[in-house]
Amino acid sequence: MALQRIDKILSSQNIASRSEIKAMVKAGRICADGSTVKRPEEKYDPETTLLTLDGQELRFRKYLYIMMNKPQGVLSASNDKYAKTVIDLLPEELYRRDLFPAGRLDKDTEGFLLITNDGELAHKMLSPKSHVYKLYEATTDRTLHEEDVAAFRAGIRCGDQTFLPADMKIIAPNKALVEICEGKFHQVKKMFSAVGAEVTALKRLRIGGVSLDEHLPPGACRELKDQEIIDILSHYHGL
Ligand code: URA
Repeated sequence: MALQRIDKILSSQNIASRSEIKAMVKAGRICADGSTVKRPEEKYDPETTLLTLDGQELRFRKYLYIMMNKPQGVLSASNDKYAKTVIDLLPEELYRRDLFPAGRLDKDTEGFLLITNDGELAHKMLSPKSHVYKLYEATTDRTLHEEDVAAFRAGIRCGDQTFLPADMKIIAPNKALVEICEGKFHQVKKMFSAVGAEVTALKRLRIGGVSLDEHLPPGACRELKDQEIIDILSHYHGL
């Protein structure tokens, strides 16, 4: 690959603005193959040079795909004036300015959230036409019955909104797994509300063919593996 100015290489990776990068270089925070970069005009081959920021390796990939175990109490947004967002929780080495959560989990919902800068994949994952199923575990304020399962299977109508037929499996008196491939606002809570049950806790366990990594505590994240990036769009479903 052709040699490029270090400030251009780094700004294309969205780790910081061009002026912030200049300041990082001036402060001696960037190294190329172990030597401190002194001027933003210095040129390197981004594919063959090991670049570090504060000793952390910078990896050059166009897209990042991050699985987060979103904790309760944090907003699924890129930024917010007052509240903490999922982007605020990213460790420094994974942070890039163009990352966004692919779809929203409510503030009080926890579980699998995909954070990426790949708009096309996010769009495909979210579109009901793509048939990418999302699996949730819902806890409710009342005992669930087979009639609730049948109502979900028939398709729920709630005011002027309708929801596609959904599979539900009762796993405890007031706990169920629910699988949906739409992503309407407050969808799972509204579906339960339509059968007279209030959701008291909600957790997303799976997107497409990828399950939430059980080793990730709430608030932690990791990059998706190559196969998981493919499987996230799989039509897999099953309770
Ligand atoms: N359905 C909801 O009601 N809330 C979520 O956060 C996700 C799905």
